[in-house]
Amino acid sequence: MCGIVGYIGSNDIKEFLIEGLKELEYRGYDSAGMAVITDEDMRVFKAVGKIRNLEEKIKDFSPSGEGVGIAHTRWATHGKPTELNAHPHLGEFSYVVHNGIIENYKELKKELEKAGHRFVSQTDTETVVHLFEHYLKELNDPFRAFDKSVSRLEGAYAILLITKAAPDTVFFAKNGSPLIIGKNEKEEIFFASSDAPLIGHASEVTYLEDKTRGYCKKEQISIFDESGKNIKPDFKPLTADKELAQKGGFRFFMEKEIYEQSRVISETIMGRVKSDGVELEELNREFLDGIESIKICACGTSYHAGLSGAYLIERLSRIPAHVEIASEFRYKDPVLSDKTLFVVISQSGETADTLEALKMAKRSGLKTLAICNVDNSSIVREADITLLTRAGIEKGVASTKAFATQMMVLWIFALYLAQKRGINPQTLSKEIDAILHIPKLLQVKAGLHEKIKRLSKRYLHGHGFFFIGRDIFYPLALEGALKLKEISYLHAEGYPAGEMKHGPIALADPELFTIALMPKNLLYEKIKSNVEELSARDSTILAISPEPFEIADDFIKIESHDHYMMEYFEMMLVVQLLALEIAIRLGNDVDMPRNLAKSVTVE
Ligand code: AGP
Repeated sequence: MCGIVGYIGSNDIKEFLIEGLKELEYRGYDSAGMAVITDEDMRVFKAVGKIRNLEEKIKDFSPSGEGVGIAHTRWATHGKPTELNAHPHLGEFSYVVHNGIIENYKELKKELEKAGHRFVSQTDTETVVHLFEHYLKELNDPFRAFDKSVSRLEGAYAILLITKAAPDTVFFAKNGSPLIIGKNEKEEIFFASSDAPLIGHASEVTYLEDKTRGYCKKEQISIFDESGKNIKPDFKPLTADKELAQKGGFRFFMEKEIYEQSRVISETIMGRVKSDGVELEELNREFLDGIESIKICACGTSYHAGLSGAYLIERLSRIPAHVEIASEFRYKDPVLSDKTLFVVISQSGETADTLEALKMAKRSGLKTLAICNVDNSSIVREADITLLTRAGIEKGVASTKAFATQMMVLWIFALYLAQKRGINPQTLSKEIDAILHIPKLLQVKAGLHEKIKRLSKRYLHGHGFFFIGRDIFYPLALEGALKLKEISYLHAEGYPAGEMKHGPIALADPELFTIALMPKNLLYEKIKSNVEELSARDSTILAISPEPFEIADDFIKIESHDHYMMEYFEMMLVVQLLALEIAIRLGNDVDMPRNLAKSVTVE
């Protein structure tokens, strides 16, 4: 999830672009760049790392007069964070910035290389500018060339393009990734991925619809739908609160990130899941040759993703998979074999225990794979291969969308392993069908959130919470308990439902809140009897299930699905929202809970 800004006008282009990027830094910052055209002179600047590195590079650049400019802050999804991969990407006389993922970039790139275009980066974005210049030669009309280029793209994109062929114009296109156009009384025109960069500049904004494209120049904004029909822009006054704008109107970043899960999961899936199977271009076929087992190592929420992933890997690929807590693994003098693939999971890529565990495995000669959200982080640099989760920056200390995308990558990875070993085609197609339903299923329904908000008032005290589940829902119970602990400071623990009778049931009484994860598609009768045992001892039960459960004191109904992983993701949403609403009622700082850090870079 990257950030893009653009400008048309005669004020300080550089100032707007660099300040705009800083407002978008929360969207990603492993590299950044800008391109400006004034009086036919086209300049470009790029830098790896934080925006301040780019600021340093442009300090002597002072464009003046009428001009157009585009800028970009990158969160890598294809290709390492290097200057070559940083946006804007150049053709011969045009620059482009892009947020999203172009799924068919490989075919386009091959076609363009055959036509003589030379590529310098590993990114999907670079195909856009070559496509544009290719069609410009053919059509000799910049907008028609841009429009034809956009029509060739599959996937998600928010694009800004400038070219010497039309030095007073910014071309734009939007599908799946956000893009806003702003304007003011000084006839300046602005573009941005979100409101924040426009505050204090634009007085009115229009939020572009999917599949729209067009061009802007001084005093002219032209928007078209994919059939070429002209669309009259619907401009509205712009909010004036930056903090609110960055949170997109949500109360906390954590809440915003829960709502982002639907979209970021689509990006995680993009280019990896096809109707006939999964592919992971990061993995070459030989990498897994000789692997007979998998060891997963992580901390906290990432450890819970690992536990869940192990169920999927064993069930789908029949490869043994074991999970370790990194801080334990480091000091247990483990027995390691080079026939074991060592997988580390980390949102930040900087967790000290996980990083050290990874180094231990490498020193023992194991092949290593990282599942990580931050490219170029220490763990990514250390691992042999990385699968990026593409969740975008996660600002809430309590992890939500990072966990969801870790789960999706693990599910795809489990299918990748199963495909290599020859998965039954019916099973594969059932799994793929379930995967493709997850983005929609993660769209938060207002009724569900409202129900959880109302229910949360009953769970603000008590002497503790048990989150219980069976099989893959046990790690989800652990995750639900951690979410609640982290931000409400109430005691909660996740427990295998079948284990309650081996001691913890002694705690059962009306003040003990049991949150029961009761999927219909996996061991329902078993979990049902476990919950009945607790209810018989007067524990207060909150059941989460597609099936009504009369003896529950509270009940949150999820949709009926025909695959347990669809139930898993929907229950994940419920436990995240439950923790959020309880913590908000308790008046806690949900985004920055006491005693916690977003990345634990110490032992
Ligand atoms: C998640 O809600 C917690 N903030 C914490 O457990 C986190 O998952 C853990 O510190 C691991 O972090 P990582 O994923 O960045 O390695």
